[in-house]
Amino acid sequence: MGARLIAQPNSDVKGRFTLLSTLYQIVVKPHITAMAILKIARMGHPVLRAPASPVPDPTSPEIQRLVRDMVETMDDADGAGLAAPQVHVPLRLVIFHVPADRDEPDDGSEADDEDHSVPLTVLINPVIEPLTEEQDMGWEGCLSVPGLIGAVPRFTQIRYRGVSLGGEPIDRIAEGFHARVVQHECDHLDGILYPQRMTDMSLLMFREEMKYGAPGAAEDGDEMEEEGV
Ligand code: NI
Repeated sequence: MGARLIAQPNSDVKGRFTLLSTLYQIVVKPHITAMAILKIARMGHPVLRAPASPVPDPTSPEIQRLVRDMVETMDDADGAGLAAPQVHVPLRLVIFHVPADRDEPDDGSEADDEDHSVPLTVLINPVIEPLTEEQDMGWEGCLSVPGLIGAVPRFTQIRYRGVSLGGEPIDRIAEGFHARVVQHECDHLDGILYPQRMTDMSLLMFREEMKYGAPGAAEDGDEMEEEGV
């Protein structure tokens, strides 16, 4: 009798555990493995001002998951690139891609027949080296500066190095839109937003006002205001 009295609560506990375990398997676990759309930090948030830290292990499960979520977030926002600090993670990691229709030369000349598109790239602990002193003005937007665009000078040709999500070295030379996106994203890792790179603040404007036409200097330049970065 005494034993049954003790056993009764025990089986209740077991029953509850089984129920919780079942609920975990059905309700919680799928959300742990699924991707998530992350909140994007906006200009003024401290995470966008501070230099980010190097990624100690690019192949770790935490980084794999962060990248999955960043890709989901970038796609949801129609972005061309995203840096980890923009999703409140102060690590030196950026993702970007160059769509086939955004691969025109940065100098405003006619697009050639070559495909300059760049598939989705995960660039970890990047280092940028300008290969020329030449800079071009081009329109940029930023997911952390919603609603605004500005004309920003960027080096027209760069070399960038880093590590992939698989831990493999990346070493590329980039021009045009490709070079611009990488410079914009990597600036995020040093706490720099594009307005800080601008040399003519009269060319900072609301995107919606572009309907009246693009002012002056960046008119013929590379444009990436259609995608935030
Ligand atoms: Ni940005």
